[in-house]
Amino acid sequence: MKTIPLIQFGLGGVGRAVVQRVLASRDDFEWRYGLQLIYVAISDSRSAAIEPDGFSHAQLLTMLEAKAAGQSLADTEFGYARGELTDIIDVAGMDDAIVIDVTATEETTDALLLALRRGYGAALANKKPLAGPMEAFRALTGSGRLRYESTVGAGTPVIAMLRQAIIASHDPVQRIEGCFSGTLGFLTTGLEEGRSFSELVTEARALGFTEPDPRDDLGGMDVARKALILARTLGWPLELTNIPVEPLFPPELAEGSVDDFMAALPQLDEDYRQKVAAARAQDKTLRYVATLAEGQASVRLQEVPVASALGQLRGSDNLAAFHTEVYNQTPLVLQGRGAGVHGTAAGVLADIVALADK
Ligand SMILES: NC(=O)c1ccc[n+]([C@@H]2O[C@H](COP(=O)([O-])OP(=O)(O)OC[C@H]3O[C@@H](n4cnc5c(N)ncnc54)[C@H](OP(=O)(O)O)[C@@H]3O)[C@@H](O)[C@H]2O)c1
Repeated sequence: MKTIPLIQFGLGGVGRAVVQRVLASRDDFEWRYGLQLIYVAISDSRSAAIEPDGFSHAQLLTMLEAKAAGQSLADTEFGYARGELTDIIDVAGMDDAIVIDVTATEETTDALLLALRRGYGAALANKKPLAGPMEAFRALTGSGRLRYESTVGAGTPVIAMLRQAIIASHDPVQRIEGCFSGTLGFLTTGLEEGRSFSELVTEARALGFTEPDPRDDLGGMDVARKALILARTLGWPLELTNIPVEPLFPPELAEGSVDDFMAALPQLDEDYRQKVAAARAQDKTLRYVATLAEGQASVRLQEVPVASALGQLRGSDNLAAFHTEVYNQTPLVLQGRGAGVHGTAAGVLADIVALADK
């Protein structure tokens, strides 16, 4: 039996789903892979809990309950107010560990680099460390011991497809097009169905599909980070600033409070109604598309043929269409759920298993 110690940063929605999935997989992974995954350290934004022998099932459930109730790990009997994340790597230090980054901050970068220097593996759903300077991306991914499937497509294996079906087969990429935002998929499908932009944004926010400030989703930067990660995976040395990003709201609405923004949304309804009608007149529909071609990437609202794979996409599903030398007539298309903590956690767990197998 191979025992792999896990060190996890982040115990929010995705982090809790990862812990639940690790616990649920235990019997299966023991007989299937001879693999035992134990949690030796967990950290949230302010606190940490460390147990070099591995936390028990019951202890982990207590932590999950506390975090789901909005508490800090320091509020449990296992937690303490933490210092630097790098200290956690030091304290928990042991061979063959895997660090799981399910935070939403670039602050984890130094701890990830330290872990990689120690020979640990790392599995990320957090895009931010990979969307900083290209130099940091190279330092993080150079060893091949950092995997990041869930950063694009929320667990739908877009990165695995790109690596295995295209990069490893030396199949030159002509173009990649994709819808990589569940939230913006929900909006564009709703527009196509004749609903107003303001009503859709209000509903998406109420359902928790958007960040508390919906401009964080409507601004397109999250999709731009995903396009950047795909481009860098292809070996294109782009920076985030090289990617033109078209927000779904005009610059004058970028300032001001969330309440002001929500109140101003109906001003945009007529413009979107006209855009939808203009697209429909040509058998097209609107999608928020990331395009990668000839070493460049862009992110914008686009008219796509209704009959195309992107045009047929519904709701929050994500889709990547790879146009390559081999797939030149019909693109290689991958589609699946593009949001949600369980799909994201599934991608993280698959990365952990792949790292444990090395
Ligand atoms: N939700 C999805 O459907 C989805 C899909 C794909 C990818 N992702 C990515 O997955 C990541 C996690 O998403 P989420 O929805 O779980 O976010 P979340 O609920 O906001 O959870 C973030 C967690 O990170 C912790 N954290 C923040 N700063 C930290 C720091 N400096 N050190 C250690 N922990 C820190 C937070 O601590 P506190 O608990 O103390 O606040 C919290 O536990 C994000 O990067 C997101 O983009 C999410």
